[in-house]
Amino acid sequence: MKTIIEPFRIKSVEPIRMTTREEREELIRDAHYNLFSLHADDVIIDLLTDSGTSAMSAEQWGGVMRGDESYAGSPSYHRFEEAVRELMPFDHIIPTHQGRAAERILMGIVAGPDAIIPNNTHFDTTRANIEATGAEAVDLVIEEGHDPSNLHPFKGNIDLSRLEALLEDEGDRVPLVMLTITNNSGGGQPVSMANLRGARALCDEHDVPLFLDACRFAENAYFIKEREDGHADASVRDIVREIFSLADGMTMSAKKDGLVNIGGWIAMNDDAWAQEARDQLILTEGFPTYGGLAGRDLEAIAIGLEEVVNEDYLEYRMASTRYLGRALVEMGVPIVRPVGGHAVYIDAKSMLPHIPPLEYPGQSLAVSLYLTGGIRGCEIGSVMFGRQPDGSEKPAQMELVRLAIPRRVYTQSHIDYVIECIEDVNRRKEQLGGYEITQEPPQLRHFTAHFAPLDDLPDPEPLEERVSTAG
Ligand code: F0G
Repeated sequence: MKTIIEPFRIKSVEPIRMTTREEREELIRDAHYNLFSLHADDVIIDLLTDSGTSAMSAEQWGGVMRGDESYAGSPSYHRFEEAVRELMPFDHIIPTHQGRAAERILMGIVAGPDAIIPNNTHFDTTRANIEATGAEAVDLVIEEGHDPSNLHPFKGNIDLSRLEALLEDEGDRVPLVMLTITNNSGGGQPVSMANLRGARALCDEHDVPLFLDACRFAENAYFIKEREDGHADASVRDIVREIFSLADGMTMSAKKDGLVNIGGWIAMNDDAWAQEARDQLILTEGFPTYGGLAGRDLEAIAIGLEEVVNEDYLEYRMASTRYLGRALVEMGVPIVRPVGGHAVYIDAKSMLPHIPPLEYPGQSLAVSLYLTGGIRGCEIGSVMFGRQPDGSEKPAQMELVRLAIPRRVYTQSHIDYVIECIEDVNRRKEQLGGYEITQEPPQLRHFTAHFAPLDDLPDPEPLEERVSTAG
């Protein structure tokens, strides 16, 4: 069959509150045109993030009831540890409440002033946790990774020659090399097994450990199966094991490929670092057999890890993201290609060339999608990255709007509605106007900044003659 169906039935539903355009005009104005400030009830299709937004399975909800809440040595912890080790065979597996807690603990141990931590592209919390220790976070993704239209199959790869040069020149300042799979900040693009092996070899040569930021490991493994020679016949589970056999440790946000709403872990082979990590964990997260989570959360992660490497699930997951991406390409909307695993990224710089980067074309598009259809995406451009540590502002490398697809949450008709809204915005894109920032905090401004449209009519009414989709 050509149709790849959602490989699940719906047993429990959450109503979506419908809003009118008039209501949304008022709501977004009251939110100072910042989509993070909206009440989620006022959003029809929420594509802000794929993190912590997964629908859990009946098995997982069953696990929630079975969760054991003993303070120390809970059987739920042991089931969690076993499920992680089954895929990621590290000696020490330490739960944390989410990914950034794992990052903070790791960077607290290995980074510090003078240290340099390379990555394909650091996610913003990873970068912030590195910089908070006084260390430098360096992004070394391959050149193709910066070009939204380049069709390289593994645009998340790290540039091995630049990594080699860094290790040769400054190796004694590099406590570890990281690789983010898939590369979220670069468009959800995968890293190939060959690139992982290349990074491993350089790390061996320079005696530097390799750690994976593995939030979307299953999606990365599926891309390897689909795209990389020699892996088509391997199971995703085996590819996952092969990936982690190349690393010395990992940080994880289970809110993505753990298929849960909260959780994470840090894992490694080094005994001394693990001891330090557990000592740190006790200070802020909790005892090492729960690490900021309830026993029921650990139970849900253990089951989520089983489900996320299921190939029917992964086939549907990748097909649903690709379905949205393909529709946008067909209507001439520029997106980051190939379509990533967890999200479609619209290239707002190409779509709205009349809006200069520092009038925030991504923000303009994101607001317009909300006004048009109650869709919430996320600007990843000059709003997020434009403010420099010295206080100046400069345009980001790309101006993207990320439409992240929560796992197992929306059906194809929800996505068809999203496609129709984007089509509507695309027809009147020349009329979209820019924004200015009227208020911003010193750091991570995108979460709380206030915006104001530069024109009276930043987003004119949609076309009158809308086609009814009923029936
Ligand atoms: N690393 C990557 C690659 C991520 O995408 C995220 C989170 C984290 C680390 C941090 O994990 O949220 O559990 O603390 N990404 C979310 C997103 C927030 O929307 O992409 P966390």
